[in-house]
Amino acid sequence: MSDNPRAVNVIYSGYNKPKDRPVDDELSRVGPGTPAGEYLRRFWHPIMMTSRLTDKPMALRILGEDLVLYRDLSGDIGLVHKHCSHRGMSLEYGIVATHGIRCAYHAWCFNHEGRILETPGEAPGSQIKERLFHGAYPVVEYKGLVFAYFGPIERKPPFPKLDMMDHPGNEMVPWQIHSPCNWLQVSENSMDPYHTPFLHTRMSGVQFEVAWGELPIVDYHEREFGFFYTNARRSGDNIWIRMHDHLLPNFSQNGGLYEKGEEVRYFGRTSLTRWVVPIDDTNTYVIAWRNLNQMDDPQGRSRRDQIGWESVDFYGQNADRPFSQRQSNPGDWDAWVSQGPINSHQRETLGGTDQGVRLLRNALRKGVRNLQQGIEPMAPQAGDESFVSTFGGDTILRVPKGAGDDRALILETSRKIADAYIRFQHLPDAERRAAIERELAPLNVA
Ligand code: FES
Ligand SMILES: [Fe+2]
Repeated sequence: MSDNPRAVNVIYSGYNKPKDRPVDDELSRVGPGTPAGEYLRRFWHPIMMTSRLTDKPMALRILGEDLVLYRDLSGDIGLVHKHCSHRGMSLEYGIVATHGIRCAYHAWCFNHEGRILETPGEAPGSQIKERLFHGAYPVVEYKGLVFAYFGPIERKPPFPKLDMMDHPGNEMVPWQIHSPCNWLQVSENSMDPYHTPFLHTRMSGVQFEVAWGELPIVDYHEREFGFFYTNARRSGDNIWIRMHDHLLPNFSQNGGLYEKGEEVRYFGRTSLTRWVVPIDDTNTYVIAWRNLNQMDDPQGRSRRDQIGWESVDFYGQNADRPFSQRQSNPGDWDAWVSQGPINSHQRETLGGTDQGVRLLRNALRKGVRNLQQGIEPMAPQAGDESFVSTFGGDTILRVPKGAGDDRALILETSRKIADAYIRFQHLPDAERRAAIERELAPLNVA
């Protein structure tokens, strides 16, 4: 390679460009003891659709750890280290018992807390049961998903209660899809609203709605647990604002999948409640609920039968299409997976449209470094009986173009909407919707 640094920015500079740029270890590595791995271990994460659990134990990896997930005959779900504490046989060969799981090799039995209930081959006075625990993690089963907490047990935060996890009239259908790449690539996609006019609309045809083809006007807002942003466009005489949530470290919610921006509406809610969960450094699950309800999909375009294991009912989220089709019409999955197993940030060239990616990386880095200094992250939790408010969804107002700068008008309108969302965030859902409508209705031009 040339010693001259300028030589990398000339024509035919392939030879001079650095190869194999290092990856961002601080954010990409997720195993035990790594900076981001420790940070991620301070939050609850969904790990598996409950419907995948059978009467047999299931081996899986999460955060670089080999684990076994099972439901015992009493109904308790256990998440334990894969290798038996006796001599290391995998507990995926184990037999579920009334309480816990029994290893096939010498029949030691472990419960979901990691207690050793039996060591049948040992002498009657053996103290092994009393002095040893098997590695285990706490789990919560909630609306078709198993969630787990992987951090120090004395730091376990309350299970998160977000408003969309208990939304009136909403059916939550679980889905889970694997991507063979680092978690950050998948998570960053939802902080990158500028890909929608290109990848999803202009490059190879309309994958969602024609109106997505217009370059959005994006405005980011920080909140205590992360961000939300407004993604604003003109749609004829309407201004259409999509709100996106991104709570740290790996949670996001977007707007309605089938919204076109044609009808005035207030405070539509999100179609996806979604986590990006690292399996290990180079494999990731998206684990989520599709939110199905009459209000946000009045024409009934959602396809419930397509939502589930390795499948969801909207474009380009998995590898199930032939490569020729994905190559000529790539989707989100192709965008994040094709960045490689772990994308090197040093080979990127971030521009003005990448503010969301920068914000997310900076916030994650701050959380990771704070934890190294002993400052624990705040988990999204209201702290009482109420739910944490989220913002994902759409509001559409009739505000035709005026004589002035239309982009300034759109930005100003989106800020008024964001203000209303923030101001009324602590109200219960129906009151919140009514208050937002009262506040925003006067902005509509007759
Ligand atoms: S290896 Fe599991 S009981 Fe011996
Ligand atoms: Fe996308």
